[in-house]
Amino acid sequence: MPLLPKLSPLQSRFAASLVALIMVLALYLAFSIPQFAYAAEVDSIGGDDHNHERLLDRPYIDIDIKDLELREAGYEAEFIGYDRGIIGRAPAANEPTPLINNRLVQTNIEQGQTLPYSFLNASVFGDLSPNTTGFPSPVRIRRLSTGLEYEDDVLDDGLEWMDGEDGNTQDHELRRRQSTSEDHRTVYITATTCVQPQPIINTTTDSPPQLELYVSLSTSNTNPGPGQDPSSQQMVTLDGGFGMIVVNATGDVFMGLYGPNTTAYKSVWNAQLAASIDAPFHFYHNGTNPNLYLVDSDSSSALLITGDLTDEPSNSTVYQEWLESATPYVIFAGNRDDTSLNGLQNSYCGLTQSATIVPAVNGEESKSVTMGITTRGNNQPKQQFYIDTLGSGSTYNVFLATNANSTGSVVGGGGQVWPMTNFTTLTGMSFECCLAHHLTLADGNCGVIFDLSFCTQTAYAVPSNPQNFPNFTALAAFYDNATLANYQIFEKVLAQIPCETTSSAQYSLARTCTDCAAAYKEWLCSVTIPRCTDFSSDLSWLQERAMGQPFPNGTFLPEAQISFANNSVPLNSSRNPSIDDFVTPGPYKEVLPCDDLCHQLVQSCPASMGFSCPRPGRIGYNSSYGQMPDPKIPGQIGQITCNYPGAAYDQLSGAAGFSLSILYVALAVTSIMFI
Ligand SMILES: *[C@@H]1O[C@H](CO)[C@@H](O)[C@H](O)[C@H]1NC(C)=O
Ligand SMILES: *[C@@H]1O[C@H](CO)[C@@H](O)[C@H](O)[C@H]1NC(C)=O
Ligand SMILES: *[C@@H]1O[C@H](CO)[C@@H](O)[C@H](O)[C@H]1NC(C)=O
Ligand SMILES: *[C@@H]1O[C@H](CO)[C@@H](O)[C@H](O)[C@H]1NC(C)=O
Ligand SMILES: *[C@@H]1O[C@H](CO)[C@@H](O)[C@H](O)[C@H]1NC(C)=O
Ligand SMILES: *[C@@H]1O[C@H](CO)[C@@H](O)[C@H](O)[C@H]1NC(C)=O
Ligand SMILES: *[C@@H]1O[C@H](CO)[C@@H](O)[C@H](O)[C@H]1NC(C)=O
Ligand SMILES: *[C@@H]1O[C@H](CO)[C@@H](O)[C@H](O)[C@H]1NC(C)=O
Ligand SMILES: *[C@@H]1O[C@H](CO)[C@@H](O)[C@H](O)[C@H]1NC(C)=O
Ligand SMILES: *[C@@H]1O[C@H](CO)[C@@H](O)[C@H](O)[C@H]1NC(C)=O
Ligand SMILES: *[C@@H]1O[C@H](CO)[C@@H](O)[C@H](O)[C@H]1NC(C)=O
Ligand SMILES: *[C@@H]1O[C@H](CO)[C@@H](O)[C@H](O)[C@H]1NC(C)=O
Repeated sequence: MPLLPKLSPLQSRFAASLVALIMVLALYLAFSIPQFAYAAEVDSIGGDDHNHERLLDRPYIDIDIKDLELREAGYEAEFIGYDRGIIGRAPAANEPTPLINNRLVQTNIEQGQTLPYSFLNASVFGDLSPNTTGFPSPVRIRRLSTGLEYEDDVLDDGLEWMDGEDGNTQDHELRRRQSTSEDHRTVYITATTCVQPQPIINTTTDSPPQLELYVSLSTSNTNPGPGQDPSSQQMVTLDGGFGMIVVNATGDVFMGLYGPNTTAYKSVWNAQLAASIDAPFHFYHNGTNPNLYLVDSDSSSALLITGDLTDEPSNSTVYQEWLESATPYVIFAGNRDDTSLNGLQNSYCGLTQSATIVPAVNGEESKSVTMGITTRGNNQPKQQFYIDTLGSGSTYNVFLATNANSTGSVVGGGGQVWPMTNFTTLTGMSFECCLAHHLTLADGNCGVIFDLSFCTQTAYAVPSNPQNFPNFTALAAFYDNATLANYQIFEKVLAQIPCETTSSAQYSLARTCTDCAAAYKEWLCSVTIPRCTDFSSDLSWLQERAMGQPFPNGTFLPEAQISFANNSVPLNSSRNPSIDDFVTPGPYKEVLPCDDLCHQLVQSCPASMGFSCPRPGRIGYNSSYGQMPDPKIPGQIGQITCNYPGAAYDQLSGAAGFSLSILYVALAVTSIMFI
């Protein structure tokens, strides 16, 4: 006070109200003349939205009137000072916005703009986040190391990541978080693109340039970006909308997110940026396999499974927990012809914005994807996805992912994405028949069925007719029921055989009646429920069936083909006569059961039961059984050349713990067989 001249009460009140008036005026001007507000910050911030936020954040109305009154005499000086403050309080040009651990910022980035961010020392040396308890156990994933070999990786809550010992970036390991030392902390800086600029000419099919992420640990470069000294910063160009820089920080970390100038694209990027001392907030499983396998598709739906969720035996607690667990993964899909995903395919946020099939939000049921845990195939838990709103004869790109909800943690909350894979739906046939009957989903004469109650291992497309079996529940029940009826006859026969006697009276020391019953069931489900695909498919291992019948739309095959088929029972009928009687699918092609199923049956059951398998080259063999893919024949690797329980495409043998030893396959003398 002593420095200020003493004012009379009147003078004092006048000064105070003048200051207040000027403040109101300044506030009015600030909001009513946009150019004024922009002028103050145009250098530091480009985007309109951003400016607006900053403007509202500014402390215009935070001035303490009492404080001003205390300095009443200096009102003129204060006013000038305040005026300066409007400009002076604006962040210095390119002052970085501080990030908080595991908290994303989402922002628009103009072309040619670099947005500055920082992760301050206090955050670098802040508390680590609590360990998560998302999954019952760490998930094994497989990464592609060299060529076609898969190696095991551990996805530990899906969140921990570090470079491999050999410095090969593809060769990464996922483990519990990095050790930290006294003087430095590992900081994971990740950026993902949500939206990218649009082509100016709509025939442009390339994707726009990718964002660039810059990181500096130097206080002499607090605005890393293009044009700064390269020795003081690291840079990564995002790939498919994802980029990560991992640093060992000893103090403040500075970041810049830059959108390159383009002439062929208009509008801005929208992107997420996050820094974490725990684990990457966003993640792309670079160099791993897609961890997603097609079981089968028909013309409007597809069934996919993930790799095994655990290797633990079925009597373990972890195994049981997985069976009851919430589904850990989600799935994205989009038609391959839709180019809007190009450039965003490694970004969880980008997929959310651009994929046509996306996970449900807010815990709602997805309209097009049904998910669950299954143990089909090798008896280990895995997740399955049934997608049922697909177009016929189309190739879909599909992506496995996890989101924040899967792990129940803020750590890694930006989502993880696995490499893209693809599948093609069956061609099916004309929709006319089906639309007339309001059957929009079932249109082909092959339909995917799964989750049967007796043939629990059966999950593939079967001969169908949308007019007779409008939904897959009814179709599955028809096939399952037919198989169970046959199995019950077999059980009566098996009951005559001395099984539960002393080992000397058993039919075999190596095999028991339990083995025989299991082998019979595997074989029976495979031969009673044929695996179906388009009649138009020309894959060499397929067997034509029911060629004399009309397609469900009423069309017959050309006369010449029908008369040729007339001379052959296998070509002119289905494997199981009741299919022709009740389903009447029309012409289709069958993926034959594997011959190993027959051999396993013969070996597992008493000779007195009279099972035998046709020999290769003999009558009946070629139309009854198929063989496993032959690596020497081009185009067979990864294909399902013969049908076996739990078969899925592109599963290298051993890739998902599937072992040929569990294949029970062979031939018996029943009405179902072609001899
Ligand atoms: C990008 O464009 C802006 C405005 O047109 C220009 O000022 C800037 O120098 C350009 N940046 C680069 C790297 O070309
Ligand atoms: C998380 O778990 C790891 C081992 O699994 C342990 O070393 C670490 O101390 C735990 N961190 C916290 C914050 O509990
Ligand atoms: C491109 O735009 C023109 C005119 O706007 C439109 O007629 C044309 O169908 C568009 N092409 C594509 C492939 O979207
Ligand atoms: C994946 O790894 C390759 C090779 O190291 C690298 O070129 C690419 O940018 C990486 N992609 C992503 C999305 O991290
Ligand atoms: C960080 O430091 C650790 C040793 O504490 C080292 O193993 C690791 O390679 C360093 N990482 C980077 C990205 O420099
Ligand atoms: C960063 O924080 C740590 C721990 O609080 C402290 O020891 C260190 O001196 C700080 N470094 C800088 C550059 O401020
Ligand atoms: C599970 O079964 C195996 C053999 O079938 C046995 O060796 C193991 O001890 C069992 N484990 C548990 C936890 O019961
Ligand atoms: C995550 O789960 C919570 C509760 O289970 C739900 O309220 C929330 O909407 C979910 N978020 C998303 C993105 O699915
Ligand atoms: C499907 O994905 C595989 C690799 O997963 C790739 O080799 C193939 O070219 C893709 N096919 C199409 C049609 O995109
Ligand atoms: C009926 O379906 C078959 C098989 O897809 C097709 O070839 C034929 O053109 C269809 N006929 C009509 C009239 O749509
Ligand atoms: C499926 O069809 C059967 C009759 O064929 C019907 O009883 C059942 O309600 C249908 N289910 C659905 C989900 O439409
Ligand atoms: C199941 O099969 C039995 C015997 O073949 C038959 O009586 C019954 O109607 C069938 N049920 C269904 C739902 O097809």
